[in-house]
Amino acid sequence: MGSQNEGHEAATRRVLEAQTHGWNHIFSFINSMSLRSAIELNIPDIIHKHGKPMPLHLLASSLKIQPSKAPHLRRLMRFLTHTGFFSLQKLPETSDDSEGYVLTDASTLFLKDHPFTLAPLSLGTLDPLLLKPWEHLPAWFQNNDPTPFETAYGKAIYDYASQVPRTLSHFNDYMAGDSKLVGKVLVEQCRDVFKGCGSLVDVGGNTGTMAKALAEAFPEMECTVFDLPYIVGGLKDCGNLKFVQGDMFQTIPPAADIIMLKWTLCDWDDERCLTLLKNCKEAVTSKSKQGKLVLIDAVVEDDKADYDYESVETLLQFDLATMVLLPGKERNEKEWAHLLTSAGFTTYKITPILGMRSLIEVFP
Ligand SMILES: C[S@@+](CC[C@H](N)C(=O)[O-])C[C@H]1O[C@@H](n2cnc3c(N)ncnc32)[C@H](O)[C@@H]1O
Repeated sequence: MGSQNEGHEAATRRVLEAQTHGWNHIFSFINSMSLRSAIELNIPDIIHKHGKPMPLHLLASSLKIQPSKAPHLRRLMRFLTHTGFFSLQKLPETSDDSEGYVLTDASTLFLKDHPFTLAPLSLGTLDPLLLKPWEHLPAWFQNNDPTPFETAYGKAIYDYASQVPRTLSHFNDYMAGDSKLVGKVLVEQCRDVFKGCGSLVDVGGNTGTMAKALAEAFPEMECTVFDLPYIVGGLKDCGNLKFVQGDMFQTIPPAADIIMLKWTLCDWDDERCLTLLKNCKEAVTSKSKQGKLVLIDAVVEDDKADYDYESVETLLQFDLATMVLLPGKERNEKEWAHLLTSAGFTTYKITPILGMRSLIEVFP
């Protein structure tokens, strides 16, 4: 009898645990939406500017919110403290208040002027315009559209982006912040990769932050940013940095020692990657050059024991975001190897020094 009861209790406990797990996932959007609200309200910047632990009432008065909403601000801050974006610190006894909010490493990265800011990624990714394709995901599984984005808008994202300047500017700002961080790592830790290189083309180089960092660090290297006309059309050449507009699936600048593709191949399916990679191979081997490609992209190895849970989940989230917005995907090493050899390259070297992404040197 006793063991029958224990069996029932264990089964009920499992149902309750499953219920908590389900609730947590149903409400996960609240994590991202509350963070976005804090960014829109400028909370990280205001706490940062305050320079010491900021009591709730001071935060409320700095935000210019309705006084009646101050108790609700406490609830938002309590949640974001729980999720690791703020922490509460004691104030000196001489102070009128006992504690105040401070930033954590995670919220420091959401300061709008932080060189590697994630604020534009949050504002852009959670823009209603980019959330809409998610509503079309089930329909997309049943239709023949290339992406849920096209089911939602009837056009591919890069054909649509120029019509939505606010989203495009969040996207470009985010790319610039990310390129500052990756550029810093490359310049500080991977100088040998660029040794002896006279010319580099950053294909899909966006507004040129990465190429600018490399052009400054290696003044003898001619750096070219190649991207779509609405991205680089108005940008001015400067010293050893120049901008060329075009469609990388048609043609890319004809000869270079290094072609860089940062976070670009993951946007595309294997067929288009092959077209692009073949164009790149031609460029680095023309005029009897023996150049190489430098890719910055993720190499997903979700079965490796030493990968932490959050990194794997984040990469799988990126993979789904790519599926919804673009025809691309995140690739594991086997998929990269297959793609690169199919494009005619012989060897590659993966250096995993960029957190969840790697530097991949590819040789003809
Ligand atoms: C995900 S972003 C990466 C930008 C940049 N490499 C970085 O990591 O900061 C992909 C880039 O590819 C560019 N792009 C997309 N389609 C293109 C095409 N057909 N020809 C040239 N560039 C293209 C986009 O405009 C965008 O700047």
